[in-house]
Amino acid sequence: MSIEPSPPKPEIEALLAENRTFPPSAAFAAQANAKKDLYDEAEKDFEAFWARVARERVDWAEPFTTTLEWDLPFAKWFGGGKLNMSYNCVDRHVERGLGSKVAYHWIGEPGDTRTITYADLHREVQKAANALTELGIRTGDRVAIYMPMIPELPIAMLACARLGAPHTVVFGGFSAEALAGRINDAEAKLVITADGGWRKGKPAELKPAVDTALAETPSVRHVLVVRRLGDRAPACVMAEGRDVWWHDIVERQAPECPPVPVDSEHMLYLLYTSGTTAKPKVIIHTTAGYLVGTSLTHEMIFDVKPDDVYWCAADVGWVTGHSYIVYGPLANATTGVMYEGTPDTPGWDRWWQIVEDFKVTILYCAPTAIRAFMKQGEALPAKHDLSSLRVLGSVGEPINPEAWLWYHENIGRGNAPIVDTWWQTETGMILITPLPGVTATKPGSATFPFPGIAADVVDGDGASVPLGGGGYLVLNRPWPAMLRGIYGDPARYRETYWSRFPGMYFAGDGAKRDAEGYYWLLGRVDDVMNVSGHRISTIEVESALVDHKAVAEAAVVGKNDPLTGQAIFAFAILRAGREPSEQLGRELREHVAQVIGPIARPKFLLFTPDLPKTRSGKIMRRLLRDIAEGRTLGDTTTLADASVVEAIREHSGSAEEE
Ligand code: PRX
Repeated sequence: MSIEPSPPKPEIEALLAENRTFPPSAAFAAQANAKKDLYDEAEKDFEAFWARVARERVDWAEPFTTTLEWDLPFAKWFGGGKLNMSYNCVDRHVERGLGSKVAYHWIGEPGDTRTITYADLHREVQKAANALTELGIRTGDRVAIYMPMIPELPIAMLACARLGAPHTVVFGGFSAEALAGRINDAEAKLVITADGGWRKGKPAELKPAVDTALAETPSVRHVLVVRRLGDRAPACVMAEGRDVWWHDIVERQAPECPPVPVDSEHMLYLLYTSGTTAKPKVIIHTTAGYLVGTSLTHEMIFDVKPDDVYWCAADVGWVTGHSYIVYGPLANATTGVMYEGTPDTPGWDRWWQIVEDFKVTILYCAPTAIRAFMKQGEALPAKHDLSSLRVLGSVGEPINPEAWLWYHENIGRGNAPIVDTWWQTETGMILITPLPGVTATKPGSATFPFPGIAADVVDGDGASVPLGGGGYLVLNRPWPAMLRGIYGDPARYRETYWSRFPGMYFAGDGAKRDAEGYYWLLGRVDDVMNVSGHRISTIEVESALVDHKAVAEAAVVGKNDPLTGQAIFAFAILRAGREPSEQLGRELREHVAQVIGPIARPKFLLFTPDLPKTRSGKIMRRLLRDIAEGRTLGDTTTLADASVVEAIREHSGSAEEE
């Protein structure tokens, strides 16, 4: 993995000068789920701590006999145990009399709503599981899920989990090509999708992308299709013998399907995330440890109580949705909100309307969303009754103090604690976070490792950096919801996460600790961009650009962006005979959107005659970042031909912004 020093970040110094602290109120602390002794207990013996949590929080079909088997970097948690995830998320709550409790208040973008109780979920998950069985799915078979934010999405995931069939959810914004790659990697037998969903006031069809993808996916036998758009999806064509409507096959199933007990380490799901190569990594998560980690963090960090209305506004297609819309909250029998559409439809106060209508008490979202709301002004949230909100969360990217304070004042009305939660697709659960009621927060800091988690900030040699200094964020000890590897590639798993600093998990993030030990996340230190809280690899976008016939070579860097955290800035060298033009710029952006998905569409595109390279031929991204930011150029002494930079600089004024 290439690790270049991070570019100088003056804003980080400003961040660290941020010394306002927000201690928890006595009233909040008195009623909080998490108390300080959670840290003490976990520190005394972290394995005993997790074992206690696992015994208390999980309904085991067979109890576990070992807590942790750690053969670095391969962990096995709760060995000997058997359980079923969907039983723990649904059945046991119904058995304990919570059948009429709402699991999800679902809100469609056009304004239609559905209320799904735990009893509804119990029935629908079993019917869906029976339908999957009829379609040939057995324990261990992989199922790809490509859906909008509709209730059938968590139902489909739970139906898979009921049978022990690992799912791989592909975010609905990804392209047909990306979907095909993911289906093939997982060798999925079944794709669960919908005719489409509503987005920004319009129907957005999904099935045609599945059809395109399926031209290249020999493993798929059937496609199960939820009807969401009906007549509004004219391009939804059902292939005879292959495609089945959800309402045709699921509705007629018996509402009983016994949960299949699986081993603790049985694979629950696969999820893709961008790494430092063109090919995304397929992260493996397993059952028991993931359930333990997500349910404990959910209850403690969001201070969830039985009558809370909890809304995680992420998409289920990302890990945040897996852990904190589906598995963690359902394991805790929480009432959740699930919203299909975008925050600006029909107006920029859609979220505040939902908070008011459903009396949402806990809101969890990304800084990009908060900054977008800031741009719309205070008047919109002020129009709504947000007094129900009592805890606010942030995830996915560093939150700048200004956005933190805006969130605190305008959404939390000055008295809801903010939990800035650091974690990753790989970590499965939140790892660095305040505990509301315990931790005094500082705007912009994710504060401290969760109980039982051992983090550190190390220098390039892996030596711990004293408080006050910065370096690389590492984790020193296994945790229950950690990834179990990269699917089909144990060598890459070891190499990517465990080789940079032997014995430590290298997260790929830079971090500083202040004099009081607070962690301040500084962004990625590898070739990964973070656009609106979504990870995109520079190399992935570069290969999508080079895949276009007009492009000879491309380089991509992240440019600081006031709204999305980072924006994609692409440099493209054209093949001989091709001329730069606005039209070609549009075509290239569209091409990237087609290969990866619209989220990867470059915001800036610069046609350039050459790229700065080291004498060994490596593109010097650091210089490109300087150019993208309009900064004074850093050291160019290792550059093969210094005039290249000047040539690009001359052009850079003309970088076209979309
Ligand atoms: O750089 C960190 C950033 O998001 C990366 C993980 O991305 P992903 O796997 O897509 O998961 C996102 C949702 C968990 C991290 O390596 N990141 C995530 N949360 C924070 C953050 N950076 C700063 N502060 C956070 N709270």
